[in-house]
Amino acid sequence: MEDKHMLMIPGPTPVPEKVLISLGKHPIGHRSGDFSKIIAEINQNLKWLHQTRNEVLSLNVSGTGAMEAGMINFLSPGDRVLVGVNGKFGDRWAQICEVFGLQTERITSDWGTPLDPEEIRTKLEADTNKEIKAVVITHSETSAGVLNDLETINRHVKAHGEALIIVDAVTSLGAYNLPIDDWGLDVVASGSQKGYMIPPGMGFISVSEKAWQAYETSKFPRFYMDLGKYKKANAKDSSPFTPPINLMFGLQTALQMMQREGLENIFARHGRLTQATRAAAKALGLGLLAPDNAASTAVTAIQSDDAEAIRATMRQKYDIALAGGQDHLKGKIFRIGHLGFVSDRDILMTISCLEATLTELNYDFESKSGVKAAAAALV
Ligand SMILES: Cc1ncc(COP(=O)(O)O)c(C=O)c1O
Repeated sequence: MEDKHMLMIPGPTPVPEKVLISLGKHPIGHRSGDFSKIIAEINQNLKWLHQTRNEVLSLNVSGTGAMEAGMINFLSPGDRVLVGVNGKFGDRWAQICEVFGLQTERITSDWGTPLDPEEIRTKLEADTNKEIKAVVITHSETSAGVLNDLETINRHVKAHGEALIIVDAVTSLGAYNLPIDDWGLDVVASGSQKGYMIPPGMGFISVSEKAWQAYETSKFPRFYMDLGKYKKANAKDSSPFTPPINLMFGLQTALQMMQREGLENIFARHGRLTQATRAAAKALGLGLLAPDNAASTAVTAIQSDDAEAIRATMRQKYDIALAGGQDHLKGKIFRIGHLGFVSDRDILMTISCLEATLTELNYDFESKSGVKAAAAALV
């Protein structure tokens, strides 16, 4: 039905009406005093969301751009880096490191299996000459619905002493507790179309003192992506280049909404939606790619050889968009996003439409068992 599209994918995520209205305002001059006030408010609220006193920089890029900036501003050609790879995005960060001529070592796990912190600890402990300059970790690996144990991995990085920890928090920021200062994370990148509840187009990056020290000796050429420029502009409630003014109107509103909900409630909601989705899949006899103790709170990957038929029916009959599998998992899984502006009702609606879809595809399960299991997990 026209205008009835329901996004249940892990980004772009649904956008609240209040934010849509903010996006539709007339642009104002980005060097005006009025816009400066908006930047100041956004920057303060970004620090709140990131649980940090560090600088949080806003760039007109997608999440990948924020990650690339996070690497080329703090490292130099030939530096040795460890990259955790257990899905599409970890693999992408390894590719970026290789393109930029970093000595890249992949620490791998199968898609659906969390990275093994012990493997990373062993590598770091063996590096007595302190050659490893960074460990790059995808916190929530969206392609497989896996949450990597960043807290433990980061402890090993801290014990090493030299290496920076560079984190892809693209689908964990705003969906899972990520206390950047408490854990001492150096570089944390994210993107607007995920937990921020606004459309694509902005990337965010928080930078620790230790990372700024590394910036001083980093030798990669950069201009637009030179984070020093963004830091300088931030200090004056400004931006080095023309910012995405209307997206920032939306961001201002979204951050205010998030503050009203409160961080703990936001994390609890994402946890609840995850539990409900997983309980429903199990009740319907469907397999889950990620184990219970390493489940992303942004997206659940559900196994089915009919994944594409399920997605097609959900989209055509019920106007619900689900994500498919990527690379070798195409046709083997479908993914339900529960990230950002998603409520209990959205999950119950999705699960009941999934039941109707499975019935149409002649799946055998106890009627309403998915909805019942989801509802029970939502109390
Ligand atoms: C974990 C993760 N990292 C990085 C990205 C890339 O972000 P973008 O498409 O905004 O460049 C995504 C996008 O889905 C993601 O889920």
